[in-house]
Amino acid sequence: MGVNGKVRVAVNGYGTIGKRVADAVNLQKDMCVVGVTKTKPDFEAKMAVRKGYDLYAAIPERAELFDKAGVKIKGTVDDLLSKADVVVDCSPGKVGAENKAKYEKAGVKAIFQGGEKASVAEVSFNALSCYDRALGKNFVRVVSCNTTGLTRVLYLIKENFGIKKVRATMIRRVVDPKEDKKGLVNGIMPNPITLPSHHGPDVQTVLDVDITTVAFKVPTTLMHVHSLNIVPEKDVKAEDVIEIFEEEPRILLFSEEDGFTSTAKIIEWAREVRNRYDIFENCVWRDSVSVVDGEIYLTQAIHQEAIVVPENVDAIRAVFELKSREESMEITNKSLGIGELQI
Ligand SMILES: NC(=O)c1ccc[n+]([C@@H]2O[C@H](COP(=O)([O-])OP(=O)(O)OC[C@H]3O[C@@H](n4cnc5c(N)ncnc54)[C@H](OP(=O)(O)O)[C@@H]3O)[C@@H](O)[C@H]2O)c1
Repeated sequence: MGVNGKVRVAVNGYGTIGKRVADAVNLQKDMCVVGVTKTKPDFEAKMAVRKGYDLYAAIPERAELFDKAGVKIKGTVDDLLSKADVVVDCSPGKVGAENKAKYEKAGVKAIFQGGEKASVAEVSFNALSCYDRALGKNFVRVVSCNTTGLTRVLYLIKENFGIKKVRATMIRRVVDPKEDKKGLVNGIMPNPITLPSHHGPDVQTVLDVDITTVAFKVPTTLMHVHSLNIVPEKDVKAEDVIEIFEEEPRILLFSEEDGFTSTAKIIEWAREVRNRYDIFENCVWRDSVSVVDGEIYLTQAIHQEAIVVPENVDAIRAVFELKSREESMEITNKSLGIGELQI
């Protein structure tokens, strides 16, 4: 398969998620990026070329825009797909479903993102909760940032203590930092106002659990925050929950005594230790993990731009049946420095 036995990966949509997935794929020994796409020759397109990625026009009719701007492309998305074994579709939400026909025509496997409906793919994916379900599949959807964050902690709690019921409140960053066309300047927006938010049903695409979710958007761009209340099947102490989180590299525990009093402080830490301040792990506040009347409570922060990146790498390994779940997650974790608090 591919180049020197490496899986050849196309990234369709070199935006917030696409650029991070491309860089993460490039760090793996068993896969390589054969090209990335953009619809327009802006600074992100120029930076992709500067970083050494072969650039292609995502929309063939727009290829001449790149020529006019003097940005070198190697062809259109169809040319790129002819050189790939798998495409990671990182186009805006709902556009992936429109792109699917191209992938079927080209005979490439495809990994979609959480902005797509679950029906776009054969299975939805989270590495911890259902890696094996994606083995050998052609179309897989990596669930969204919020769903990935919820699923990781709930999977661990379910495996260890069982779960009767989950109630979760998502306090969502309104837009990503680069956004300058939309946002919420002043206000707190119940989103949606009706219950449940889509996150609970989305978690159920990758984990069998009874969950109800409520979500709000707030004027911040850095991270989401989740407040969780979990009714376990077994008797459990807060220390038991902390212990299982300490053992999982994709969960990091942050303490108030270290000064981690808000998402602003967690991002300030990440600015020191991570490229693009990307945090691929769930950031659980250690001090928030509590058991009251037999129910578990915890608060976590999720870096929306980064958390799904390792899952995309693992999904590629799963669809080609390259490694087991444990092997793939370990390789991905090591390559991205996952699980290292470094303080
Ligand atoms: N950002 C997050 O917080 C986050 C977290 C988890 C999952 N997701 C999901 O990941 C997906 C991508 O989101 P994003 O935040 O990375 O979006 P984004 O930053 O807006 O990037 C989208 C990229 O797709 C390109 N594109 C536009 N139309 C396209 C088309 N028809 N075919 C192929 N590429 C096209 C854009 O190129 P141009 O810029 O040149 O137009 C851009 O590079 C969505 O499903 C989203 O729901 C996002």
